Amino acid sequence: MNRIPITSDLTFSRIVYGMWRLGDDSDTAPAFVQAKIEACLAQGITTFDQADIYGGYESEELLGKALCAAPHLKDKIEIVTKCGIVAPVGRFADRRIKHYDTSAAHISASVENSLRLMGIDKIDTLLIHRPDPMMDHQDTGAALDALVASGKIRSVGVSNFRPHDWTLLQSAMATPLVTNQIELSLTAHDALTNGDTAFLQERNLPIMAWSPLGGGALLTTDSATRDILRRVGNEFSVDAAAVAVAWLLAHPARIMPIMGTNNLSRIKSLSDALKVTMDRQTWFALYTAALGKEVP
Ligand SMILES: NC(=O)c1ccc[n+]([C@@H]2O[C@H](COP(=O)([O-])OP(=O)(O)OC[C@H]3O[C@@H](n4cnc5c(N)ncnc54)[C@H](OP(=O)(O)O)[C@@H]3O)[C@@H](O)[C@H]2O)c1
Repeated sequence: MNRIPITSDLTFSRIVYGMWRLGDDSDTAPAFVQAKIEACLAQGITTFDQADIYGGYESEELLGKALCAAPHLKDKIEIVTKCGIVAPVGRFADRRIKHYDTSAAHISASVENSLRLMGIDKIDTLLIHRPDPMMDHQDTGAALDALVASGKIRSVGVSNFRPHDWTLLQSAMATPLVTNQIELSLTAHDALTNGDTAFLQERNLPIMAWSPLGGGALLTTDSATRDILRRVGNEFSVDAAAVAVAWLLAHPARIMPIMGTNNLSRIKSLSDALKVTMDRQTWFALYTAALGKEVP
């Protein structure tokens, strides 16, 4: 599995494993979380995506319990986590309404919680989860710079940011932002043509793609896209999901798909996507099916 440079001393695996759904699994025991991590590591998938809010603010703790039971794993993985969404559940159950908080105080408190819950002493990459219409970029930027300076986070990125959100925050930071984590798949491909991908490509910054299988819809919904995914999968002796991931990997923007399956046997074959060689016409056959019409 090739690796993507993030900073001068940090790289991510090309395919990332996401833990949004970790708490939805019927088995959340540390041993099973460990088995998922080890199945990823066996394929060279070393980067794990978390967020404070996942699982009602409980997913980081599920990972932390697994890492506590198997501390040797801590040196083998990179952890990305996020902050900024406050929903009235879990430790924020007393809040009146779901909202965003990118204040320095909230970000710093969230990082402390993430470190404690995951039992780690630094976060490899902290992402601001969503653009916050109330963001005071000077306050947020200074807080993020200070967290990098303190060593509690090694790098900073954003998620679901448009280019103008990125430049606003970056204008108030000394630390370069390293990535934007956006929705990108055959079911959500606007970023490829609306400037979001181009903005990052121009800056030579890699993109993290969330819900690369459309949250499973690509595989569970009858569609022309799925038919092509299956046909191409047969050619390469892989399943349709692997072809959907290969479609992202084939793009020149160095897209890192974040896979969300809880199924251990699916996790064990996540790297099958690398077996698929996607030529331009196959890429466009899938894109055309996803658009529902021929390109103009
Ligand atoms: N930054 C953000 O705002 C944001 C938002 C959403 C997600 N994320 C990140 O992206 C990660 C991935 O998101 P995601 O879970 O939506 O990704 P996904 O990989 O597109 O979808 C995973 C879902 O698809 C199902 N699935 C996978 N393979 C399948 C197959 N062959 N047939 C039928 N169903 C299949 C899985 O079910 P099984 O478990 O049964 O396999 C699971 O429910 C998250 O964990 C999180 O880290 C970030």
